[in-house]
Amino acid sequence: MEMEGSVSRAHCLVLTYPSQGHINPMMQFSKRLDHKGVKVTLVITNFISKTMHKEASSNIALETISDGYDEGGIAEAESIHGYLDCFRRVGSQTLTQLIEKLSSSGGPVDCVVYDPFLPWALDIAKKFGLVGAVFFTQSCAVDNIYYHVHEGVLKVPLSETEILLPGLPPLQSQDMPSFIYDFGSYPAYYDMVVGQFSNFDKVDWILVNTFYELEQEVVDWMAKMWPLRTIGPTIPSMFLDKQIKDDKEYGLSIFKPNTDACMKWLNDRPKGSVVYVSFGSMATLEVEQMAEIAWGLRMSNRCFLWVVRASEEAKLPKNFVEETSEKGLVVCWCPQLEVLTHEAVGCFVTHCGWNSTLEALSSGVPMVAVPHWSDQSTNAKYIMDIWKMGLKAPMDEKGLVKQEAIEHCIREIMEGERGEEIKKNALKWRKLAREAVDEGGSSDKNIEEFVAKLVHS
Ligand code: UDX
Repeated sequence: MEMEGSVSRAHCLVLTYPSQGHINPMMQFSKRLDHKGVKVTLVITNFISKTMHKEASSNIALETISDGYDEGGIAEAESIHGYLDCFRRVGSQTLTQLIEKLSSSGGPVDCVVYDPFLPWALDIAKKFGLVGAVFFTQSCAVDNIYYHVHEGVLKVPLSETEILLPGLPPLQSQDMPSFIYDFGSYPAYYDMVVGQFSNFDKVDWILVNTFYELEQEVVDWMAKMWPLRTIGPTIPSMFLDKQIKDDKEYGLSIFKPNTDACMKWLNDRPKGSVVYVSFGSMATLEVEQMAEIAWGLRMSNRCFLWVVRASEEAKLPKNFVEETSEKGLVVCWCPQLEVLTHEAVGCFVTHCGWNSTLEALSSGVPMVAVPHWSDQSTNAKYIMDIWKMGLKAPMDEKGLVKQEAIEHCIREIMEGERGEEIKKNALKWRKLAREAVDEGGSSDKNIEEFVAKLVHS
């Protein structure tokens, strides 16, 4: 524990998994801890440190460890399994060295907050006698599904079409995360998501990037067994409760956003008129799927802002950008939160990554759900049927979301009666998300409790 004046400050290491969807929530949680008086060091990989764009200065100190692929990250690895194995080996060594270095340089660590995709971090924390807090960056419902697979209660490959699990509504097999319903599609990721629970008996805290009001039943069920606390949504404070004055953006971006072009273009559009489209930082779409989305947007006759990452650009239909330039803007990356909170945006066609889902919810923007893989199908089910703040675009028998489905969902939300109900719900969730992180809200109180116990441990 470090002394500052007469007050002792706990020191947390926050260890991220190297992808945008995991760095963002952990960076934001770090800022919340810092705001509550904890000293925080965010740990990223050497590769991310070399390649990311630093957008804002913050109080959060950065340190690095190695995943064994300092020059090219996961893209350099021979396989996903090979990458994760190497990360475990080299990461364990370099995390150990980092904790020793901080300890000998006057900044001893009290607690390691780690991503459950890296469960070995808990073993290192325990070797040093530190508090270990796992930080789930996906929804509590999804975590609960993986837990039941780990325990052997939910057997894979799935044999039933309706799945009943404690704390969850009845789910169809296609509402399960893709690694479960499409068992065998990504064996290394399957092992990783189920392995999140491998050393759960040793963990001191389970923190989840969600909020109580959003996932009440499943949180209640899981919290009966573990010291589980909801601490989200981890959105920059100025978009939510405004308690942290300079917190306007995530701060570390793997891609460079096209901010000026996007904001200028949005400023010229009427309120609620724009369809914003993005599939996050990882999804790679089939050429055919890309074309269906493109034609669906054109058919909707709405203005659209579409994020197509540079690595996906070649899949766009020939001349699409030129032919639709009066209605649409296609960019490689945008400041998503600024876009979602811009009054011109009326709906969000999304892959339902957990961060995008929480951001849309916190901004009160209705969604057209086009899930791609991983946890996104479960998020899409909740968006449509539980939170009722969007529509899931149906797939055809080949798993393709056709242009008519995209167009229909956009129209329903932007013009239909159903859209009115969805918009009302979206505003309700925005209010509840803000309240959760605001002073005295459910997540704020949980963070206070975590900090108070750290200081006294
Ligand atoms: C991944 C998984 O795919 C997702 O399912 C899981 O829940 C988290 O990790 P990703 O696919 O990148 O994440 O999606 P998402 O979780 O939505 O995170 C993307 C982040 O990038 C968001 O915070 C979003 O604001 C940001 N973003 C996206 C931008 O800043 N600009 C963009 O143009 C697009």
